[in-house]
Amino acid sequence: EEIEKGGYEHFMLKEIFEQPGVMEDVMRGRVRLESGSLHLGGINDNLEQLRKARRIIICACGTSWHAGLIGEYLIEEFARIPVEVDYASEFRYRNPVITPEDVVIVISQSGETADTLAALREAKEKGALVMGICNVVGSTIARETHCGMYTHAGPEIGVASTKAFTAQVIVLYMVALALSQGRTLSDSEIALYLRELSEVPSKVSEILKSSEEIHAIAGSYRNARNFLYLGRGYNFPVALEGALKLKEISYIHAEGYPAAEMKHGPIALIDEDMPVIFIATRDSTYTKILSNIEEVRSRKGRVIAIASEGDEDIRSLADHVIYIPAASAPVTPLLTVIPLQLLAYHIATLRGCNVDRPRNLAKSVTVE
Ligand code: G6P
Repeated sequence: EEIEKGGYEHFMLKEIFEQPGVMEDVMRGRVRLESGSLHLGGINDNLEQLRKARRIIICACGTSWHAGLIGEYLIEEFARIPVEVDYASEFRYRNPVITPEDVVIVISQSGETADTLAALREAKEKGALVMGICNVVGSTIARETHCGMYTHAGPEIGVASTKAFTAQVIVLYMVALALSQGRTLSDSEIALYLRELSEVPSKVSEILKSSEEIHAIAGSYRNARNFLYLGRGYNFPVALEGALKLKEISYIHAEGYPAAEMKHGPIALIDEDMPVIFIATRDSTYTKILSNIEEVRSRKGRVIAIASEGDEDIRSLADHVIYIPAASAPVTPLLTVIPLQLLAYHIATLRGCNVDRPRNLAKSVTVE
């Protein structure tokens, strides 16, 4: 096992650090920068039908569901096809309205999650085209879908998903662009978006260098009992994922929320004992996020901000700032999630938790 950990203290840390390489693997052969084009073998034969979808329903559980939410933002922005994201467990028991004009995308790292498998079978029975995004090659979900793409993230051992999540988001980004081709985006726009994606792995390597700094921040919050994670737009699902990572492995209660919804509830909880993590990158909602930070500060909440490199103004508002390289909004989730994975990891290890095998959780939930 020590050899498999490759010198890292835990599989989770190894998997976090593997992400730049995994991201390259996910894109390999699929993203062709010279021609600015995409080659997605697993869905090539079905692309026309996928592009004609009346709507797309994404079904998944846990972290894969969070990737699905980012997929919703990406597909709607790029391809202008309406998307709904459903928990597989809810979808399967709701007698969902599905027609053969719908496309269902199921996302699963293991390819064995019972609820996701049942959702896939339900969708097939109702006549939808079902596409899978799985990590484990030859898994049940991968075999039962009509078409699909593998994430090629390699085996993920840590129960808390990290590299599989970023790989899923990259696949969804590529799928969203493929759905836009010849419809909603020009070839030059697609080439530009692909270039931005191709720059992500080196930006992630940069962020990973902050691990020690994040370890120090973790030391100040290791005894917190609650955490709030706030983000907007593409970073709202990242807020959910950051909160999930923390609760899974450190057993600290954490909630993710869209930042603007704070005033409809969580604001009542804010005091000096409630650290708030803001994902405050410079995008169209940046100034709104700043006013949300002010609201937290005026109630004595402690603030950790994930901000864009060069943003010095935010230092005066936040207790701690973790910087990420500048990037366009659609790729930011792939960057902002990295410090949140590291923060959860460091807080959990400082609390003496078994991060690779957290209590009560299973890597793959094959029963209901
Ligand atoms: C479990 C795991 C999570 C995972 C979820 C969905 O809860 O602990 O890490 O996100 O199942 O698993 P899947 O294999 O379908 O992505």
